[in-house]
Amino acid sequence: AKAGIGLIGLGTMGSNLALNIAENSVPVAIFNRTTETTHEFARAAGPLAKRIVACETLEQLVAAIEPPRAIILMVPAGPVVDEQVAALRPLIEDGDMIIDAGNANFHDTNRRAVEAATNGELFLGIGVSGGAEGARHGPSIMAGGPREAWDRVAPIFEAIAARYEGTPCATWMGEGGAGHFVKTVHNGIEYADMQMIAEVYGVMRDGMGMSAPQCGQVFARWNEGLLKSYLVEISARIGEASDPETGNPVLDIIADRAGQKGTGRWTAIEAQHLAAPVTAIEAAVAARNMSAASEVRAEGERIFGAAPRVLENGALSIDDLEAALIAGKIVCYAQGFTMIARASAEFGWALPLPDIARVWRAGCIIRSSMLNDMATALEANPDRNLMFADFFSYLLKAKHPALRTTVAAAAQNGLPMPALTAGLAYFDIMRTERSTANLIQAQRDFFGAHGFERIDRPGQYHGPWGASG
Ligand code: 6PG
Repeated sequence: AKAGIGLIGLGTMGSNLALNIAENSVPVAIFNRTTETTHEFARAAGPLAKRIVACETLEQLVAAIEPPRAIILMVPAGPVVDEQVAALRPLIEDGDMIIDAGNANFHDTNRRAVEAATNGELFLGIGVSGGAEGARHGPSIMAGGPREAWDRVAPIFEAIAARYEGTPCATWMGEGGAGHFVKTVHNGIEYADMQMIAEVYGVMRDGMGMSAPQCGQVFARWNEGLLKSYLVEISARIGEASDPETGNPVLDIIADRAGQKGTGRWTAIEAQHLAAPVTAIEAAVAARNMSAASEVRAEGERIFGAAPRVLENGALSIDDLEAALIAGKIVCYAQGFTMIARASAEFGWALPLPDIARVWRAGCIIRSSMLNDMATALEANPDRNLMFADFFSYLLKAKHPALRTTVAAAAQNGLPMPALTAGLAYFDIMRTERSTANLIQAQRDFFGAHGFERIDRPGQYHGPWGASG
């Protein structure tokens, strides 16, 4: 019998996805640029090997799949995807489908979708989240492209996806790059979630003098409450892990320079294009960049001396930090969903906000119990800022004082909190009816005659600057 689907690229994500498909859905034909990798993979597949067809050439791969074919690309994002599509193009037939399941930039996916449509091919761009473990046992899947194309392969992706109370986390988001766009915002939120957790870790470690295992225990406790999430759970496990060689906490021996592959940055860049404020995400991207400049930081510490960092006893409690993190998280997701809504209008998509919250409830890196409440809130009113939904406004009213106390104490003692601080400022701006932008408008009018509106009557006006200036 022929394979039900093909997969190209047996890196970590590709090989785990192939095993997942073989186990839970259809037999899969595989191809990797290095043939040895293909055979090694098939050999290591154990009992699943009988549902895997190892192919040495693209021609073999195409021949091994039942038409109309679907072929998943799990290759590095960027030009490699275009090369792979170009290599497949002469081999595939009408009705065959190419699926890019890598972390593509959604603008590239938009372009590839147009190119594919022009050539009469079917092309899907699918965001897959959950790391290696997710790929193997159930990722969260965000699909984009022609709806009919998705409907054809949906049973396969639903079979391999994570499930939240039985519902598969695999959803069609819209045409073209919609799936990869949603995955990009997922990653932006991932950056902010991680950064905010690291910021409260900094307060515990430096401000309160807690050991890594002690921090880990706090995270473990938080993971039983409102903050229940994959990232808090793994932070607990990380804090409690010790280095087999030295017996010291692993966390203490890890260099403090964060890496990144670019998706968080794309979110920040795109947010600026969309005029959608995602300040917590922007701060998190910038924080990674600052962390990477460790030599500059060391020089700064020599010149200015280290900030005191140690908090006075009782200045902040662990409960304050938990509440601050809850408030910060709500603000960050409110920003992320607002950005998605803006993109939906701007790009002519109809991005399903409640379904996006739902598809993130399991399998992906940002999965958390709060996402279920977000889905409920967005279902009731997808166009309203999430901070204003009943459940979340109630929570924010209760928790923002602790966010304020935390950010203030941290600032006072030189404990940097870029993401939580940005989140707090966003919250405060979004609850201030009269902002200070009247001065900005006056300045713009002063130096550029840009005009302004008045609060007491309609129309455009200019100030009396000639006379006074
Ligand atoms: C996921 C992740 C994943 C991402 C890595 C690394 O959803 O499974 O978002 O897709 O590539 O987490 O991202 P950075 O290298 O940018 O931190």
